[in-house]
Amino acid sequence: MSLEDYIHNKPVIETGRLILRPLVSSDIMALKEWMPDKSVYTYWGKGPGKSEKNPELLFEKEEKPTKSFHLGIAEKVSDNVIGDIWVYLIENDRMAQIAIRLSKLAQGIGYGTEALSAMTRFCFENTELKRLWTKVDIRNIASCKILEKCGYTKEGLIRQGKMVNTWCDYYIYGVLDSDFV
Ligand SMILES: CC(C)(COP(=O)(O)OP(=O)(O)OC[C@H]1O[C@@H](n2cnc3c(N)ncnc32)[C@H](O)[C@@H]1OP(=O)(O)O)[C@@H](O)C(=O)NCCC(=O)NCCS
Repeated sequence: MSLEDYIHNKPVIETGRLILRPLVSSDIMALKEWMPDKSVYTYWGKGPGKSEKNPELLFEKEEKPTKSFHLGIAEKVSDNVIGDIWVYLIENDRMAQIAIRLSKLAQGIGYGTEALSAMTRFCFENTELKRLWTKVDIRNIASCKILEKCGYTKEGLIRQGKMVNTWCDYYIYGVLDSDFV
């Protein structure tokens, strides 16, 4: 399989406790429970935007065909969406950025590690991507911890760089397909 194969058919990825799957309009109620919560965005570089405050807006426009992934993270037992994960800004089908967020209630119980690890493995085993990377505010300890647990290397520190709409000290974390065996 390659990124091209997932343009119209996004993957569904299963872990022990979670299913990473495309969001559907029946998820709106679940998304409303946590997407507008400001505490989720403390180190996100911006607060909740229009569609995060009103998740129904996410389903109003037809999604453009793209090689990027944006998958909901659902608890297997309930199919309740408690977070989401992206692989985006794909460059030359070789390198992409990754991002994840979870509802406050779903944090601190290992879901972040479980979802990030599954998505990272999926990208290296099922697409031609060779490098995944992300920026992390140095104060975001939970994020640093999960990245390290999933095999990402802290590659550098950027001082007072731009992270979305804010300026902060942030780390660059990256992982190569050859690291992830
Ligand atoms: C970052 C995030 C995805 C992590 O997911 P999670 O499910 O909470 O993470 P896990 O439970 O798998 O692991 C978190 C680890 O960080 C630790 N941790 C969390 N906050 C901490 C703190 N303030 N100080 C020290 N350790 C902390 C936890 O104890 C745990 O460590 P352990 O595995 O050694 O027990 C989640 O916190 C989140 O969605 N945050 C808001 C959005 C965000 O900032 N996303 C990342 C942007 S780069």
